[in-house]
Amino acid sequence: MSNQQNRAFTVAVVGATGAVGETMLSILAERKFPVGGIVPLASERSAGSEIEFDGKKITVRDLATFDPKGVDIALFSAGGGISKEYAPKFAAAGAVVIDNSSAFRYDDDVPLVVSEVNPEAAKNRPRGIIANPNCSTMQLMVALAPLHRAAGIERINVATYQSVSGGGRSALEELGRQTAAILNFQDPDPRRFPMQIAFNLIPHIDDFLDNGFTKEEMKLVWETRKILSDDSIQVNPTAVRVPVFYGHSEAVNIETKTKLTPEAAREILGKAAGVVVVDERKAAGYPTPVTHASGTDPVYVGRIRDDLSHPRGLNLWIVADNIRKGAALNAVQLAELVAAGG
Ligand code: A2P
Repeated sequence: MSNQQNRAFTVAVVGATGAVGETMLSILAERKFPVGGIVPLASERSAGSEIEFDGKKITVRDLATFDPKGVDIALFSAGGGISKEYAPKFAAAGAVVIDNSSAFRYDDDVPLVVSEVNPEAAKNRPRGIIANPNCSTMQLMVALAPLHRAAGIERINVATYQSVSGGGRSALEELGRQTAAILNFQDPDPRRFPMQIAFNLIPHIDDFLDNGFTKEEMKLVWETRKILSDDSIQVNPTAVRVPVFYGHSEAVNIETKTKLTPEAAREILGKAAGVVVVDERKAAGYPTPVTHASGTDPVYVGRIRDDLSHPRGLNLWIVADNIRKGAALNAVQLAELVAAGG
């Protein structure tokens, strides 16, 4: 076995010009990941442009013509189609792929890993691919896994309030453009979302499926069961896009096997990795995407209270930066596990 301690890794970021990709680059630098070489990749459109990594300018290269030989770790965030086509090529060339798309998340031979919850699963990656969970599942798992270990979650009811950054750069631009248009008495002209998103909200993210749920909602069902290794957990999701730039929020109700009081939940979450409890029963005593989550790493939990309608029910409000913990930060944390020999 090679000693990984002093090694430096050649890291490729696929989708380096995107909302998640650029945050992956800044988090790699911020956390002083042992980078030997960095390769930003995107489409032909942005090939030749420059991005900044750790204070240095680096030229973006075209994924389609790039030879992955020599890449140790590849962070993919350019959409499912790109991952399906290129991730196996990078893995075949010897890279460990950490994929932020939904292309491989539900494959039995691809681990789906939240670094604080099931890091050991990352070691078993027969295809050389580790999947990064969807943003809304990610923050839910960081907060709920410790409660599941303590009291056994049987059922999760969750309504999400998801910021537009989850839809990438074009979605961020659409909210900005529509907001300005409406304030100037102009037509919002929806392009990226099916309806006006500024000053509105849309109960539809990703495609509709035959069961009436959207794919974004079913990701919460499928991914929760896989990450917690428990197919008996019932999940009832509603996913909503809201006119917030950064930070997803979730109104969550859980039913546990044994009664979990708000006090016990607060104590467990107070010690949980990656969680910050913000739960004072007064104005501003709770986390919001703008005041707490945006631009920061933790998953914030507040509004912890009993469920008046169920003896073993508990309510929580869970907020996190969807681009950081929900995507780029967890991907880099997985890269750290790989670099540490995991
Ligand atoms: P590009 O800037 O060349 O379009 P976002 O989710 O913020 O929209 O970002 C998507 C990322 O995926 C961008 O970096 C984008 O690069 C990249 N991307 C999109 N299509 C391709 C493609 N065909 N090949 C490589 N990268 C792609």
